[in-house]
Amino acid sequence: MRFIFNSLVLIFFSLTVFAQTNPNGTIAGQAMVVSAHPEASRIGLEILQKGGTAFDAAVAVEFALAVCYPVAGNIGGGGVLVYRKKSGEVGALDYREKAPLAAHRDMYLDAQGNVIAGLSQNGHLAVGVPGTVDGMTNLHQKLGILPFKEVIQPAIDLARNGVTLTEKEARGLNNNREDFIKYNHFTPPLVKNGTWEKGELLRLEDLAKTLERVRDYGRAGFYEGETAYLIVREMQKGKGIITYQDLQNYRSVWRRPLVGNYKGHKIITMSPPSGGGILLLQMLGMLENYDLKKMGWHSPQALQLIAEVQRRVFADRATYLCDADFYPVPIDNLLNKRYLAKRMKDYNPQKAGVSSQIKAGEISETISEQTTHYSIVDKWGNAVSVTTTLNNGYGAKVMVEGAGFLLNNEMDDFSIKPGYPNFYGVIGGEANAIAPQKRMLSSMTPTIVEKNGQLKMIVGTPGGSTIPNSVLQTILNVLEYGMGMQVAVGASRLHHQWQPDVIFVEENGIDKKTAEALEKMGYKLQYRSGIGRVDAILVLPDGKYEGGADPRGDDTALGY
Ligand code: GLY
Repeated sequence: MRFIFNSLVLIFFSLTVFAQTNPNGTIAGQAMVVSAHPEASRIGLEILQKGGTAFDAAVAVEFALAVCYPVAGNIGGGGVLVYRKKSGEVGALDYREKAPLAAHRDMYLDAQGNVIAGLSQNGHLAVGVPGTVDGMTNLHQKLGILPFKEVIQPAIDLARNGVTLTEKEARGLNNNREDFIKYNHFTPPLVKNGTWEKGELLRLEDLAKTLERVRDYGRAGFYEGETAYLIVREMQKGKGIITYQDLQNYRSVWRRPLVGNYKGHKIITMSPPSGGGILLLQMLGMLENYDLKKMGWHSPQALQLIAEVQRRVFADRATYLCDADFYPVPIDNLLNKRYLAKRMKDYNPQKAGVSSQIKAGEISETISEQTTHYSIVDKWGNAVSVTTTLNNGYGAKVMVEGAGFLLNNEMDDFSIKPGYPNFYGVIGGEANAIAPQKRMLSSMTPTIVEKNGQLKMIVGTPGGSTIPNSVLQTILNVLEYGMGMQVAVGASRLHHQWQPDVIFVEENGIDKKTAEALEKMGYKLQYRSGIGRVDAILVLPDGKYEGGADPRGDDTALGY
């Protein structure tokens, strides 16, 4: 009894950390969109109300985010998505960026074989061949029903008429001002004389023109003609290596999503080149044998168990995961139940495990705004879960002059030197080494949950290496602890990634007693600002939808 009481007190205190004005989230009867930006959600809702499918709305939201959310929304980056049609058919689309043809294994190393700091993270050489426009035209062609022109036009209007900056966006642009100046050969429109203020209009006329070319010529409006010319010219100005041939060659790929089970639920998630889905299914597979509910939400026991499964799967990530088109990823072995049980053999519920002695990386402590996720369901019950990215906030900080969009710095998601940590502090090995045309390993984990053959949840998040862990905890919050979607999304989270050997916790994310209990077991805790920004939708028992929009950002759930 006392244990249950303590757990309830812990839940209460922890959930108040990200208190919402509407703790029950947005409820809608027919359709819903949840994204990182109110304008993008508004545009998605408009498309749904016009009779578009979830896939039409996804295309509209993706292009809208490229305008109103330049920190991560993009046409100069890439992404991955999983979908579930009303019929139950599932699929996945990989529009992840690729290494250019001229890329090579040691391109970020000096003559002595040492990493040249920052080269894979900022500037023209950090850029992978963008996949977003091909991905979106591909998605629309296969699953859209409204004319393409109709779904892209709201983004064009937004770019031309201007986006009203939120406080967070104004701060993001001001904080990156010096980098925008440093890494561009012209003054991009993201730079202002003086500082941006909340409520100001950001107009992106060149971006509007680029989007018009995509509207009029489809993928050719980006990978050929004027836009391709502007990209290649930009590359030449900054010693980048993307060529016309790279652009012409780029194709997004339909993939089979990974499908697993957790205590009677079907989990549909992303396959390689994202490692996120494998990690998520591994963690759920390890946790299935434990009674998390009985342990209590955010009890020291539950947190320790979650951290220990995270530690183990991130160790696997470093060795085995990469673009499976280039290197055999042992997916079946990694998801094998006996293997997962064996991985937990050395788990000691009283004591912290110890990660091996490989040089630990330093993880960024800033809020995880890199990458963005949106979840959509339409009136027929079609669902799509999409994560899209420039990698770091504002990508390589390079804008294509004359075309008005930022380029990604996704090359840093390769293992630029085996054992050397990337921006997120994760270590990679030979499997994820750079090769021409290869896709860099991702952590993006767009996921859909089914129960008894029916749609149950659509979920995903940004946050680099923290992504699979945030998705895991959100799913557990609902399936194990019975939280509603908004509460599950707002609840505090933790993150362990094997190296560095610490548990990252959100500031005020766990109470003092729990922190002390974990430290006593031998864990080192490191406090940081928000972990992930989950945007998710839950199907309620009466068939209505509850949106969970992460209160860590400007995220917005809208439905009708
Ligand atoms: N660039 C972040 C990811 O793909 O995981």
